[in-house]
Amino acid sequence: MIDTLRALLVPGKGLLAMDESVGTCNQRLVAAGIAPTPEMRQAYRALLLGTPQLGEGIGGVILHDETLRQSLDNGRAMVSTAQLAQDAGVLIGIKVDLGTQELPGHAGEKVTEGLDGLAPRLQAYRALGARFAKWRGVCSVDDLARPSLACIEANAHALARYAGLCQAAGLVPIVEPEVLMAGPHSLARCQQVTEALLGSVFSQLQRQGVALELLILKPNMVISGQDGPQQDSAAEVARATLQCLRRAVPAAVPGIVLLSGGQSGPQASSRLNALHAVPDASLPWAVSFSFARALQHPALEIWAGQASQQGAARAALMHRVRCNVAALRGRYTAELENP
Ligand code: 13P
Repeated sequence: MIDTLRALLVPGKGLLAMDESVGTCNQRLVAAGIAPTPEMRQAYRALLLGTPQLGEGIGGVILHDETLRQSLDNGRAMVSTAQLAQDAGVLIGIKVDLGTQELPGHAGEKVTEGLDGLAPRLQAYRALGARFAKWRGVCSVDDLARPSLACIEANAHALARYAGLCQAAGLVPIVEPEVLMAGPHSLARCQQVTEALLGSVFSQLQRQGVALELLILKPNMVISGQDGPQQDSAAEVARATLQCLRRAVPAAVPGIVLLSGGQSGPQASSRLNALHAVPDASLPWAVSFSFARALQHPALEIWAGQASQQGAARAALMHRVRCNVAALRGRYTAELENP
C-alpha cells in the first residue's frame, strides 16, 4: 500500500476516473451519438487506456468492474483492456461500490451500497491487478433539511467500513464523500455541508480503526450550486476549499485528489491551479486531481464512435491531462486552452 500511495501521489500526476456505471456510461455515449453497447463502452475505454502518453500526467486509473474483466483483440493477441493502462505505466484502481439507493424515510437522499460480500470481491480484484479501490457516497444540498444527519452518518459509516476492508486486502482505499453541485445553494452552504460530511467521515474512519496514513481522500471542491446565480472566482473556490480541508482533514492523510463534479474542464483546471497558487499554502497533504468528466470531455465527443477519430480524441484527452498537470504547478493559464 505504501508503494501504491507513492506511485499515485507522485508530484505532477493525478488520476483519471473512468469508472462510470453501465447506466451513466451509456447516457454519456448516447449524448455523443454513440450506441450504448458493451462493445462501444469497451472501445471507448480502450481508447482512453491505450493513450501512449497517459503516464506523463496520470499515475492511476479508476476502472469499472466491466472494464477490468473485458478482453480485446489488439491485432496481435487477446489482451485484457486493463493491461493497456499498465503498458502506459499507470496503476489500476477499481470502483467497488454498487451505486446508490434511496435512504428510507429521507426523500431524495441516497446511501451507497455494496458492503455485503465486499471482502472476497476485493481479493478477486487484487488478483486481477487492482492496487487501489474507490467508493463514493453522495449528499445533496438545500438550505435547510438536506443533507440530513442520517444521510451524512450512513454514508460516512459505509465509507469507513469499505476503507477498513480495503486495507485488510492490501488495496489503498480512495474515500470519496461528495457534496453534489445540483441546486442553487451558496458557496458558504457548500463549505458548511462539506465540513460536516468530512468531519463525520474522519470520525467513522477513526472509530473503525482505519489507518489514515494508508488512504486517499477524494472530496468535492467547495463551490456554489450549479443552479444558482453565483459564479465563483477560482480564488474564492481555492480559499474556501483550503479552509474547509484544513479544518476537516487530519495531517496524517497522505493525499487528497479532488473530483470535478460537473465543472467544465477549463473551470476545474483554473480552480485546481488557484489551489496551488495560494501564497504560503504549505499543506500537510499532497493535493491533486481525480477527474472523470473534466478530463474525458471533449475526447468522447471528438471520438463519436469513429475509429478514424481515435488520434484526435487521444490528443484532446492529453490536452486536459497537461492542463491539469500545469495547474498542479500553479502554471495553468487560459492561454493554454488555445495553444
Ligand atoms: P467527476 O470528476 O466527473 O465528478 O467524476 C469523479 C468520480 O470519480 C465520480 O465518482
